[in-house]
Amino acid sequence: MASFKKMHADSIADREAFWSREARRIDWHKTPERVLDYDRPPFARWFAGGTTNLCHNAVDRWLTWNGGALADKPALIYISTETDTERTYTFRELHAEVNRVAAMLADLGVGRGDRVLIYMPMIAEAAFAMLACARLGAIHSVVFGGFASHSLAQRIEDATPKVVVSADAGSRAGKVVPYKGLLDEALNLSGHKPARVLMFNRGLAPMPLAAGRDVDWQSLANRHFGAVLPCVWLESGEPSYILYTSGTTGRPKGVQRDTGGYAVALAASMQHIYCGQPGEVYFSTSDIGWVVGHSYIVYGPLLAGMATVFYEGTPVRPDAGILWQIVERHKVAVMFSAPTAIRVLKKQDPAYLAKHDLSSLKALWLAGEPLDEPTARWISDALGRPVVDNYWQTETGWPILTYPMGVEALPRKFGSPGYPMYGYDVRLLHETTGEEVAVGEKGVVAVVPPLPPGCMSTVWGDDERFVKTYFDSIPGKQVYSTFDWGIRDADGCHFILGRTDDVINVAGHRLGTREIEESISSHAAIAEVAVVGVADQLKGQVPVGFAVVRDPGVIASTPARLALEGEVMKTVDSQLGAIARPARVHFVTMLPKTRSGKVLRRSLQAICEGRDPGDLTTIEDPGALAQVKEAVAAK
Ligand code: PRX
Repeated sequence: MASFKKMHADSIADREAFWSREARRIDWHKTPERVLDYDRPPFARWFAGGTTNLCHNAVDRWLTWNGGALADKPALIYISTETDTERTYTFRELHAEVNRVAAMLADLGVGRGDRVLIYMPMIAEAAFAMLACARLGAIHSVVFGGFASHSLAQRIEDATPKVVVSADAGSRAGKVVPYKGLLDEALNLSGHKPARVLMFNRGLAPMPLAAGRDVDWQSLANRHFGAVLPCVWLESGEPSYILYTSGTTGRPKGVQRDTGGYAVALAASMQHIYCGQPGEVYFSTSDIGWVVGHSYIVYGPLLAGMATVFYEGTPVRPDAGILWQIVERHKVAVMFSAPTAIRVLKKQDPAYLAKHDLSSLKALWLAGEPLDEPTARWISDALGRPVVDNYWQTETGWPILTYPMGVEALPRKFGSPGYPMYGYDVRLLHETTGEEVAVGEKGVVAVVPPLPPGCMSTVWGDDERFVKTYFDSIPGKQVYSTFDWGIRDADGCHFILGRTDDVINVAGHRLGTREIEESISSHAAIAEVAVVGVADQLKGQVPVGFAVVRDPGVIASTPARLALEGEVMKTVDSQLGAIARPARVHFVTMLPKTRSGKVLRRSLQAICEGRDPGDLTTIEDPGALAQVKEAVAAK
């Protein structure tokens, strides 16, 4: 087995040689003319001139592979503990379903380059819709089902979809979450109106159809039974999807992914990082609304010829053994989850783990938020299998740091997501000087461009924002900033210390505090607000708000204060979704600010976490901080 150190060095020293080898993992309709076109830094175009199709590589290809050995083997195993449904689709059946949905979308006018916004729960039809878009060369933009009308409207406006695909409802922990009302409200709010809305009816909630715009999925599906549509061969750099993610501003960024680079990077990662083989079963507990769902529920496993478990449910229903029961029953080889899910399970009876035969499992991969050492140790001991941390972002699409188990069994350290992956020239840079920091010193995790295949190609519709946001933040250097703090030890293991910007991570979900602030400010009683992420034992972080009311009279009594806090939370629920709801909203008459007017966020956060508020020499009015301390102590 090659040494990973050499592999990594080769991947940076001769990018083209390295990636031209990896490119053979996928089918190309036309061979690329150039492995890397880097004529316009920092924009990297991988496999320029080559044509391919993600749906072909994820589905069609496996029908004929190895004499058709996989054609009638599972491709997608849909399990819902919310509706007690289970259904397995073989590659042949998945092919038929995807073709039918592609025909339905084509019937609604969708073609190459058109956007399709998918606002759906974790039902198999959502995966069909994604793959159908890929087949047609249309660009999907999946919006997490937990987002509410305002978040949805922002994304509709930015992506300007021709068609929106949705369903009557999602279901979370046995509670129905109706979608149609939120969607209709979002469509009212949005300046852009899609021509058609395709609605899948699960029979969970009312789903009134707007005449002339809304189309019932089943009625349309009935007209396209047995349809087969050819895959549209896209040039490698053509977009496959847009996925919105939060940053420092209140406006989410549309992360645009290419086609060929993404397919190659995922296919390579499936072997070298996740150790997956054709015919094996893969299970990720994420959701298609997040990047993990794109890369490692839908595309990655299928590109590797694996069956992917598509799970709608929580880790604790019907009981805390459900994930392990799925592993046992379907002989899952590769499992991917988030630290929060494991922390939830850690609070339950460990007997649930011991009850199941987990011998099929090669390892458990965890990502999305810091994996604390006690949680890593607990699950590692309980499973008796390697637990592998991996660090990456919506922007990169696949791991920046991890332990590439499929290349070499490198020593693993609890609390560290490991080493830079091939293709990533990772540096830890000083925030203000831009110089590399020494071993053991904290720096911004940065990547010297070009970014490897699979990473975002640009911000949708805004090349300038791409360059300004990601490549302009470290003084004197055009390097990609992850906006994470990191540290490296003498063995080259990296540790992630949290974000450098206003992004917070709640149960592995990435949220922008600015978006939450904008939502809270829209409440008539609120004059000003600051939201910070506060450490939480279970969820990693939770948002906490400090709001200045317009009229102090409205919070004169405790009941009035609690009532307003409830109202503010409801506002966030209805605009952004319950995942963004602050855990607490404290009311004050002023926010602690510097003399130049900047809110002292780190001090707010420190006080909430019971730490020293730090350097306060620049504070405008110390009385503001006293109020904050009092408010926090009072709750
Ligand atoms: O702060 C880092 C944290 O999550 C951010 C990216 O979140 P998202 O775009 O939702 O992508 C998640 C892909 C797995 C990062 O900037 N993060 C992600 N993985 C880890 C992590 N922090 C610590 N350790 C990790 N393994």
